[in-house]
Amino acid sequence: MKAVAILYGGRSGEHEVSLISAASIVKNLSREKYSITLIGIAKDGKWYLQDMPAFASDEISMAGMPAIQKSKRVMVLPGAGLWYESSASRYKKLPCDIVFPVLHGTFGEDGTVQGLLECADLPYVGAGVLGSSIGMDKAVTKALWAEKNLPITDYLVVRAEEMKRPDIQTFLTRKIEARFGWPCFVKPACAGSSVGASKVSASESLLEALHSAFLYDNKVLIEQFIPAREIECAVLGNENPVVFAPGEIIPTHEFYDYEAKYKDPEGARLEVPAKLLPSQEETIKKLALEAYTALTLHGMARVDFFMDKRTGNIMLNEVNTIPGFTAISMYPRMCRAGGLSYPELLDRLLDLGEEEYAKRQKIAYSFSNES
Ligand SMILES: Nc1ncnc2c1ncn2[C@@H]1O[C@H](COP(=O)(O)OP(=O)(O)O)[C@@H](O)[C@H]1O
Ligand SMILES: [Mg+2]
Repeated sequence: MKAVAILYGGRSGEHEVSLISAASIVKNLSREKYSITLIGIAKDGKWYLQDMPAFASDEISMAGMPAIQKSKRVMVLPGAGLWYESSASRYKKLPCDIVFPVLHGTFGEDGTVQGLLECADLPYVGAGVLGSSIGMDKAVTKALWAEKNLPITDYLVVRAEEMKRPDIQTFLTRKIEARFGWPCFVKPACAGSSVGASKVSASESLLEALHSAFLYDNKVLIEQFIPAREIECAVLGNENPVVFAPGEIIPTHEFYDYEAKYKDPEGARLEVPAKLLPSQEETIKKLALEAYTALTLHGMARVDFFMDKRTGNIMLNEVNTIPGFTAISMYPRMCRAGGLSYPELLDRLLDLGEEEYAKRQKIAYSFSNES
């Protein structure tokens, strides 16, 4: 039996989605192979041990999810794993062979939790510290892809300090018009779930869009707006990752906004596999693997693309290193369509996490010239 600690919730706009992803994972993990511990992270960032019945229900929905129980604190002890409060101010070590962070967005998908787990000397599922933080930052992601000549949408980066310029609107308008013109798309560099993202049709509405994006990050991207088919691809593995046939998100809204993602049941249709020509599918799969490697990823990632409806051009958009994991989420669905069942996918992810940990163990962390 392997002791798996599932980390979920978290200090993120995607806290609720994480609860549903975690519930699906718990439901699909083999009870013969794994003993499961649930660790819920409250919205204030504190960690607590959770009872298993929290996830007993078959009907898992955002509205019906139990809140994080805040009785037994969990702490991370550098060099010594996870501990929980067994009685007032007394801590016991939690049995844990590997951690599965099921945290979307900030303080979970961005390298922070991964760093904490490395300090605690624990194996974990998914991308490492560097890959996670690169993947969270859309500007750094694009810079690395551009360096490898991978196709991306044209973009500009705006930093919060620049907004103090009295001529910021004309300054940016000039840049936008010189590069790609209107409409353009404004979004925070490090956020998710489409929060703070908007389409801008003309210079007059640029500042408002920037202000909403700057609520979520100190760095904002202005991109060329692409009327596109949204194609996603699942990549799984460490040194030799595999890629699955792409799927498609068909939003009914003007773009795949927060409402379409989580609020409106008719907000989008998912098509797995996506209807593509064999040559288009091949291109997307090849790019997905190159994109994954360029960002130093391991474990898993969902690589998202735009396919321009006018020209058919294929461009990389972003990666998610801890993609949605509900039963109907794209990542597990694309794997299932490729012959890897949800429980098999979980087995594989845990194995990959242990493999990465074993590799890190072989690195020398001290230097001695005495021998
Ligand atoms: N350059 C763009 N042109 C057109 N639509 C875009 C563009 N960038 C993002 N979008 C739309 O906004 C959604 C969210 O943007 P995305 O970059 O995927 O960020 P996240 O999903 O992390 O919030 C996309 O799924 C797409 O519908
Ligand atoms: Mg996205």
